[in-house]
Amino acid sequence: MKIILEKYQEAKEGENVLYLANLKNFKNLPLSDQEINFAQEQLKNEVKLIEFNRYTHKVYLFVSDKESYKTKDLESMRKDAFSLHGKVLESKISNLFILDQLNDTEATLAFLEGISLSNYQFLKYFSDTEKLKFCLEAIELRSDSVSQRQIEELISVTEGVKFARELVDEPLSYLTAQKLSEEIQRMGDEAGYSVEVFGRKKIESLKMGGLLAVNKGSLDDPSFTILEWKPEGAINKKPIVFVGKGVVYDTGGLSLKPTKDSMDLMKSDMGGAASVAGAIYSISKAKLPVHVIGLIPATDNRPGGNAYVPGDVVKMYNGKTVEVLNTDAEGRMLLADALSYAESYKPEFVVDLATLTGAAAVAIGKYGVVAMGNEESKFQMEQLKNSGEKVYERVVEFPFWDEYGELIKSDIADLKNIGGRDGGAITAGKFLEHFTNYPWIHVDIAGPAYLGATDNYRGKGGTGVGVRLLFDFIKQYRS
Ligand code: BES
Ligand code: ZN
Ligand code: ZN
Repeated sequence: MKIILEKYQEAKEGENVLYLANLKNFKNLPLSDQEINFAQEQLKNEVKLIEFNRYTHKVYLFVSDKESYKTKDLESMRKDAFSLHGKVLESKISNLFILDQLNDTEATLAFLEGISLSNYQFLKYFSDTEKLKFCLEAIELRSDSVSQRQIEELISVTEGVKFARELVDEPLSYLTAQKLSEEIQRMGDEAGYSVEVFGRKKIESLKMGGLLAVNKGSLDDPSFTILEWKPEGAINKKPIVFVGKGVVYDTGGLSLKPTKDSMDLMKSDMGGAASVAGAIYSISKAKLPVHVIGLIPATDNRPGGNAYVPGDVVKMYNGKTVEVLNTDAEGRMLLADALSYAESYKPEFVVDLATLTGAAAVAIGKYGVVAMGNEESKFQMEQLKNSGEKVYERVVEFPFWDEYGELIKSDIADLKNIGGRDGGAITAGKFLEHFTNYPWIHVDIAGPAYLGATDNYRGKGGTGVGVRLLFDFIKQYRS
């Protein structure tokens, strides 16, 4: 969908228009008295989005009852935009002109973001896509409160989300670990970040034991993808590193998952990788002046011929040993290697994103993401939470007490890869902590990464959760 910005001007004959207005000024719009009366009646019934049929075209009116916008109100704007998107599609409108009388930059941008995110579809595998296709192709925003720069930034972010969603929606039959790195490379060519990919040989020579152990049951090679956005005059001397779990399919391995509502969703187990790639895409497309690096260890997890087995002891990239007691706790195995590898960049701090535990999803559902971090990352955690409220990918900080670390002590190795029943999301985080020696935050996105049913502008299937969060976090970042 194209978005064009123009200065405010009245609608021309035949244009499909949406007026964004408020309670004070909607009566001055070029509508008939009858229409204004009708709008007033509708507003009494708390209907804020009103449709007028002019027979040659449609006129929509959105009347906001707010004078200022808190984060919750901005979220309402995005949701109202989703409703508007539905109405526009019913009328098969492909070009919409939005006339901004709200004159509140953030509110207008939130509305536009809501429409843009609602317009995502994944139709690649249908034989006949013409009938299914959304027809909203272009929006012209006529506004004196929004700048060209803000529109470009919005396009960068929503495109990054779209990429992340596409990657998650792709099944394993297409998106193997190797393909994932190729797709990330293609996105880099478009956005301007550079990419380096390690294949099996390099991963073996580096002795990334965690990634290789998970890959043992697979016929496909693992991959380790490095993304880098290093703008001239970056405000940070040391890079910020993002790490994303890239399990392109999680069968559970020999600790096999049941199919229903479990394994059948596991093409989405590279949601962390998708969001890291999507975020770096957005950051570089918007040319944010911050040096960021992405690390994506990737493989599928299968119970094939030589698969790793419960009881195995694995030597990790940093030399620590892990007793594997459940092959379905695979994400931490490959993330651990990537986190140790991150040390080589002497990072300012590191954030990892992963669909890591069912426990995180059970704890807070699809309504937010779970985060935890070490003592050194307190400041960044506050920043991340602020960004979470703003973009409404809310961050819930879990306790990260030492005692949880006791639960992953092994009888025969440095660590074991599962705790007990208690605090499953936290013991997974504690495991990862052993592979970090810098300020670090772990974000478990298992709840909202993939949705079985449409949740307004977040859609259905891959949501790209984390892209908007990390983008805003980097945008707000001050070194
Ligand atoms: N990929 C799963 C976690 C997951 C579950 C993501 C549901 C999204 C939705 C992860 O690899 C896993 O299987 N974790 C296990 C860990 C357990 C064996 C300690 C889990 O959460 O059950
Ligand atoms: Zn698993
Ligand atoms: Zn997994």
